[in-house]
Amino acid sequence: MASIAVIGLGGMGSRMAGQLLDAGHDLVVWNRTPQRTSDLVARGAVAADSPAEAARRASLVITMLSDPAALQQVAEGPQGIVAGATAPTTLLEMSTVGPAAVRRLAAMLPDGVGLLDAPVLGSISEAESGSLRIFVGGPELLAQRWMPVLAALGSPMHVGPLGAGAAAKLVANSTLFGVLAVLGEALALADGLGLPRNTAFEVLSATPVGSQADRRRPAIESGRFPRRFALSLARKDVDLIVSAAESTGVDLPVAAAAGQWLTAAQEAGLGDRDYSAVLAHITNTARSA
Ligand SMILES: NC(=O)c1ccc[n+]([C@@H]2O[C@H](COP(=O)([O-])OP(=O)(O)OC[C@H]3O[C@@H](n4cnc5c(N)ncnc54)[C@H](OP(=O)(O)O)[C@@H]3O)[C@@H](O)[C@H]2O)c1
Repeated sequence: MASIAVIGLGGMGSRMAGQLLDAGHDLVVWNRTPQRTSDLVARGAVAADSPAEAARRASLVITMLSDPAALQQVAEGPQGIVAGATAPTTLLEMSTVGPAAVRRLAAMLPDGVGLLDAPVLGSISEAESGSLRIFVGGPELLAQRWMPVLAALGSPMHVGPLGAGAAAKLVANSTLFGVLAVLGEALALADGLGLPRNTAFEVLSATPVGSQADRRRPAIESGRFPRRFALSLARKDVDLIVSAAESTGVDLPVAAAAGQWLTAAQEAGLGDRDYSAVLAHITNTARSA
């Protein structure tokens, strides 16, 4: 069994850490808000005083943080992961931060410290049950070495060299937000044209967004959107998608438009709600927008 550090114990990281404990690994944890370590410590994990200390104590260091700025804060500086990591430790970056943040981290690692980017598809319940899809980027041999650990978290898939995991995650998420925007706009159109909601949902059921219409219907009808993936994080993902596309000369007007809905919903105070609350925002505001 490996000694593993998990840094970032939010909705996803705390559950992934729990899976690793259940799999029998020695776990070191660090979180900016220290209270979030207590449940895992009660189950046998050790809390580190800093990301550097966590990295010193582990042969594999997993980061699961909100965004590139959080990764920078935790990785860099005298108390950061980079200061504590020594060969032959491996860093496994699992947040959604995009390829540029992975490149920045790679450039500052000491010789002999390995790096894989391995962001995940799936949400809180998949993290809790160890059934995430994991897109792994990095050297094949290094990826193979950590596959048994990743298997405790879900289904890992090696997708290419360093940065390919982060790229795969952006590609996957680029489909999520446009679909929600199209569904929200279709419902707003139905409202505008006087089609009853029941009828609209039956019609949409038979379209390419049918599965999303069926899945989101209870939340739209009840107005309750239980948080699994914060709308502010979805907005961050759209920014990453659009800027990664721009940096390679790819123009994505649909992604940018979906991002505008998420930005508007965040400005309306929905940033802490589940990202699907953008549907309520679209149906409530589209007519006067
Ligand atoms: N939720 C999902 O369904 C889902 C699915 C797939 C991928 N993801 C991705 O996974 C990552 C984590 O998501 P999550 O839902 O677990 O987010 P979350 O619950 O908001 O947790 C975010 C984590 O990042 C830490 N953090 C934020 N800013 C920081 C900073 N400046 N310095 C140090 N630590 C900082 C937080 O620490 P505090 O506890 O101190 O706030 C917390 O541990 C994100 O990149 C997200 O896009 C999420």
